[in-house]
Order: sequence, then C-alpha cells, then structure tokens
Amino acid sequence: MSELSGRDVISIVDFSRSELDMIMDEAEKLKGKRTEDLKGKIMATAFFEPSTRTRLSFQTAMLRLGGSVIGFSSEEGTSIEKGESFSDTIRMLDNYSDIIVVRHKLEGAAKLAAELAEAPVINAGDGSKNHPTQAMLDLFTIRETFGHIDGLNIGVLGDLRFGRAASSFILGASKYNVKLFLISPPELKARKDVIAYLKNSNTKFSEVEKLEEVINELDVIYVTRVQRERFADPAEYEKVRGSYKITPRVLANAKKEAIVMHPLPRVDEIDISVDSTPHAAYFRQAANGVPVRMALLKLILGD
Ligand code: NCD
Repeated sequence: MSELSGRDVISIVDFSRSELDMIMDEAEKLKGKRTEDLKGKIMATAFFEPSTRTRLSFQTAMLRLGGSVIGFSSEEGTSIEKGESFSDTIRMLDNYSDIIVVRHKLEGAAKLAAELAEAPVINAGDGSKNHPTQAMLDLFTIRETFGHIDGLNIGVLGDLRFGRAASSFILGASKYNVKLFLISPPELKARKDVIAYLKNSNTKFSEVEKLEEVINELDVIYVTRVQRERFADPAEYEKVRGSYKITPRVLANAKKEAIVMHPLPRVDEIDISVDSTPHAAYFRQAANGVPVRMALLKLILGD
C-alpha cells in the first residue's frame, strides 16, 4: 500500500514535495506501459463541464492499468436534467465505482463530493479554483525536460485570476526552489489567496505586466487562455482578450532552451507557427496526462 492509498485529490497544496516526487517517479516508470495493476477496479468520470484532455487521459490511464471506466461528459443525458442534485448523483457513483473523478463549474464541488463519497475523489477542475492533476503533469513535463525543477525561472502568463490550471501550477511549482514570474494584465492578476500562499512559503516571485520585460530570463513560459466562460461581464472579457500572443518573433528573445507550455485548449494565445519550433512543449505536456494520471490512480487504488 502506498502513502497515497485511499487519498482524495482536491488541491495541489495538499501534496508535499516528496509526495509529488513520488507521483512523478511512478509516472516515469509507467510511461508507455500497460499493466494489470487495477484489474477489476472501476473509475467513474463525472464531468459537469466540457473537457477533452483531462477526461480522456484519465480514461486512457485507467484502461492502461487494466481497470474499467463509467461516467458522463455533460449533464445532458443524466438525471440532473430531471432535477437530481449534485449530491445524489455523487452518492450513486459512489455505489458503482472505486474512484470518482469530478469536474464542475462551481468551486468546492470536488471537496463536497469527497465529503459525500466513501470512494476517493479526484478533482478534475472546480470553477476557477483548483486543477491539481494538471499541475502534476505540468511539473512532470518540466522535470522530464530539464531533469530537475529546482533552480528554474518559471513565467506564468495570461489569466492568472480565473485560470485554475494557472493557479494550481503556480502553487505546485512553489513546492520547489524556483523563481516565479506572474505575468498578466492588471485585470487578470493572481488571486489574493495564491499570492498569500507564495508569501507564506517564502517563494521567490514577482508580478509583471509585460512578457518582454522578463522573457530572456525564463526557462519555462507557461501560457494560459483567457477564461471567457468565467467573466460575469462580456465587456470585461473583450478588454483583455488578445492582450498577449506568443509568436516565433516574441520567442526570438527567449533562451534557446526555454520551453513554452500550455494546459490547452489554446484559442489564439500561441500562434500555430510556434508548434514546429523546439520551444513548443504543450503537446508532449498533454500526452503526459496519461502516465501522471496512471501513477496517481495506481498509488491511490493499488494494493
Ligand atoms: C484547462 C481547464 O479546464 O482548466 N484545461 C485542461 O484541463 N487542460 C485549461 C483551460 O480550460 O483553459
């Protein structure tokens, strides 16, 4: 039994550096493999919000471990359409499965599910708050590229206010000895609780508005999408959309070894001409969703 046996995964801050290292070590071993570690186990995916990578890489991860998958990818077609509550839906999935992966537009949804369910619950995104498994695969991709995370200068660019992938990545990276550059227009600055966490953990960080000011210092340029669906006022979204765009010309000032990451989906913040440059790491980052989620499922559910 692993230290993570039976654990819920709600926020990246609940994981110590050594636990994150353990997950990454396991992911390294499982990459490209098929095993029977979770034969007979069932994973339920309860996705109340759209997803491509997260849901499908969780499913692939479970299948590659020899387990099975049930679930839904939207409220459509479930009894939620008849008025069933979130709580009752989770209670049903708890009866049918050994682990539940939840994505929901409301902050705290996964935590509530974890309180209701006997089975471990993994948060696959709750509103603009947390996306812990994304942060794990992001850190894994950095470690795989550079061989280490400590000592790197990491820029996180874009919607640091509403982006749960950005917040979780910032918090996860703060467990390592890195310097963080939080780059965003003033309207999209990182949340107060994220900044407070960085201060309390003595993480080196600075908040800047323009990528140009710091690009030549960065080893990692983590780009994010402006989260249109989280803006209460469409005019506010219009004001900030398109406020940054990564192109080969922008990257001309970056370090030769610098990598560009993105949780995806991208809209127009990374020009497709970047895809063929050695900087582009976002597709292999997305592919790493499978081994990292395999590692997590195995450590939580394995014997
Ligand atoms: C992210 C999400 O859903 O938070 N996508 C993902 O899981 N890879 C990022 C986003 O939607 O911008």
